[in-house]
Amino acid sequence: MRIVTRGADLRALSRRARQSGMTVGFVPTMGYLHDGHLALIRRARSEHHRLAVSVFVNPLQFGPKEDFARYPRDEVRDVRLCRDAGCDWFFLPRVRSLYPPGFRTTVAPGPLADLWEGTARPGHFRGVTTVVLKLLNLVEPDTLYLGQKDIQQARIVQGMVRDLDLSTRVTVCPTVRERDGLALSSRNAYLSPAERARATGMIRAMREGRALVRSGTHDARAILSLVRQTLRREARPDAVDYLALVDPTTLEPINRLDRAGGFLIAAIRIGKTRLIDNLFLKPPVRRAGSQ
Ligand code: PAF
Repeated sequence: MRIVTRGADLRALSRRARQSGMTVGFVPTMGYLHDGHLALIRRARSEHHRLAVSVFVNPLQFGPKEDFARYPRDEVRDVRLCRDAGCDWFFLPRVRSLYPPGFRTTVAPGPLADLWEGTARPGHFRGVTTVVLKLLNLVEPDTLYLGQKDIQQARIVQGMVRDLDLSTRVTVCPTVRERDGLALSSRNAYLSPAERARATGMIRAMREGRALVRSGTHDARAILSLVRQTLRREARPDAVDYLALVDPTTLEPINRLDRAGGFLIAAIRIGKTRLIDNLFLKPPVRRAGSQ
């Protein structure tokens, strides 16, 4: 595995590989890797001849009062995990090399960036689209791998790729969870044991919603009401930033689940930690003649 710090070197490596007929997969991360990242890395590894992983805590996607400075970092461990997972190019740019003095241009992500996470974190998605476009321009991968855990990020990046005619394909991979259901996130490291136990209440509440859908309820108000009640009881959140049932593509709220299904999305605060999660809900297919 090559550790690459200069964007120009990464681009040269990737171009050379592609000129000799190889395909390139790319997993962008902010480091402090966990099994969710490793699932993306393994998938990318299995589908491409060459694999690039970036580790860059992107200051542009953090608000002034957010956790940029204390965001967990462990580059030595990240290097080891990527080497063991068969990564070819480990990209570790410095802030000044991606955003040198005089850097001005950013990518405006469109109206989806103003909903949900965008309301709580103004400017966040502009930071994401800007860094992802920069990384795509350096790696020029065939496929970009993102996790379903950040479904709004994935949909916004898919929109950018479509709207700006980028040739990269975006693959969204399922959320990886702990045995008790907690979605893996680098920010879980902030939780005390008691807070972590409460955090698992979020997925338990969402799964109650899924059970209700499986029993035949498709009305968003009924589903959300049960999930909200369970969430308050099980997670005792200090705040619920949002809880909604949304269209799987546009992420706009829906009143009723149809055959296309929808995402149940939530963001809560437990202590000082903000947690997001989502679950895809789909009404069961009823066979002809069944009631
Ligand atoms: O999901 C993340 O870790 C980040 O938002 C990403 C895609 C690496 C961009 O900084």
